[in-house]
Amino acid sequence: MQTRLDQIRHNSNKIEPFKLTDIGEGIAEVEVIQWFVKEGDSIDEFDQICEVQSDKATVEIKSPKKGNVTKLYYKVGDMAKVGSSLIDLEISESNESEFNHKSSDLNPSSSKVSSSVQLENNFNFQNQILVNGKFLKVLATPSVRYIARKNNFDLSKIVGSGKDGRITKADLLNLLDQKSPSVINPEKIENVRSSNGKVETVDRVEKIKGYNRSMAKKMVESLSVPHFGYCDEINMNSLIKLRNDTKTYAKDKNIKLSFMPFIIKACSLSLKKYPIINSSINHDLTEITYHVNHNIGIAIDTPTGLVVPNIKNVQNLTIFEIASELIKIISLAQSNKLSHQDLTGGTFSLSNIGVIGGTYAKPVVIVPEVCIGAIGKIQKLPRYDEKGNVYPENIVQFSWSADHRVIDGATMANFSNLVKLYLENPGIMVIETK
Ligand code: COA
Repeated sequence: MQTRLDQIRHNSNKIEPFKLTDIGEGIAEVEVIQWFVKEGDSIDEFDQICEVQSDKATVEIKSPKKGNVTKLYYKVGDMAKVGSSLIDLEISESNESEFNHKSSDLNPSSSKVSSSVQLENNFNFQNQILVNGKFLKVLATPSVRYIARKNNFDLSKIVGSGKDGRITKADLLNLLDQKSPSVINPEKIENVRSSNGKVETVDRVEKIKGYNRSMAKKMVESLSVPHFGYCDEINMNSLIKLRNDTKTYAKDKNIKLSFMPFIIKACSLSLKKYPIINSSINHDLTEITYHVNHNIGIAIDTPTGLVVPNIKNVQNLTIFEIASELIKIISLAQSNKLSHQDLTGGTFSLSNIGVIGGTYAKPVVIVPEVCIGAIGKIQKLPRYDEKGNVYPENIVQFSWSADHRVIDGATMANFSNLVKLYLENPGIMVIETK
């Protein structure tokens, strides 16, 4: 009997390989995270083909044409080289002309259509579901994902009635129609899709993927940097008061004002005085570049690992604007939707590990940056006043790491002192901010 794939192979339509386009940012290869199609599938223009991840971001690849998939070149977990073929697609003559027509509508100056796949940077919110604290893959066909996307519906919020919780078209359409949902509670399927509660008896080998792969690579790069460490404590009393005083005002403007925007601003003002902290050094150690812009990276703990997007041009932003940018990148990071732009071009970084706990840290400089600061947990601790009386203070420890090829101890200490001055006297920040 002739299979669908055989039929595809035997007809006279045109077979085109679709290549992974140059993503830019010097990325030479990406990891194939998952396929949304298999050989023999018919797909429409803009249907998802696969999800790939570079060191910089997760991206979704969509088909620029309608056709039948005749070959997948990679398995999940393989590294695909930029410029290599991802899939072969059989295009019928009519689809071909329809596609060319549409493309020339979009771009009148170009009659030639590139046969490279399209990359889009907006993916992932539909790929994982949290069940009893574990992240499991959302199971749905490309067409269901397509309908969900069109309706701005987050598939990770539901579990379908299909095998292993697969979301069927009927599940989704019922939900969209607000009929009684045929979906089931995520809690109930934990045993079906996890390891059935069995105790593992052999070592488990897992691929290092996504943000964790990027962290591994970045940290190896950082090994070439001789680190200098410096710690100091900062009294947060005034900042806590200022934050409390401005919290309601901020809330009315829909801004969640945490300590971070103040700390980021204090660092930016200090970078103005000590520009070498916002510099980078070239490979053969002959030149230092002093960066005009303060693109401050913020370490964010996400379900898929540590990621450090940066807020651009902090030197031009008010504390309020920084807060708004921070909320944006945290939300993008948590949904794995950060762009290359968000993840590149950082000039200095901060890591608020104190949200989780801990006093001191030994942060690692993110090459080519030359300095990173880690913020410990704010704690109420006993201190002495001038008369020797013990009284409670809100104290936080800052741990700085710097590239000792560029930054000496005195510069680091002076920079830290200035950050301390601003945070202990936030009124001075107001005076200095344009
Ligand atoms: N010590 C004690 N409490 C802290 C704190 C600190 N250093 N920083 C923040 N908090 C409090 C906040 O006040 C807030 O509580 P409140 O709203 O009741 O006042 C609560 O913790 C949550 O703060 P949040 O708004 O989430 O934090 P943020 O804006 O200060 O920080 C991130 C956001 C993204 C930096 C943070 O969530 C994060 O991911 N940190 C981890 C970074 C990491 O993993 N670093 C390791 C790198 S190797």
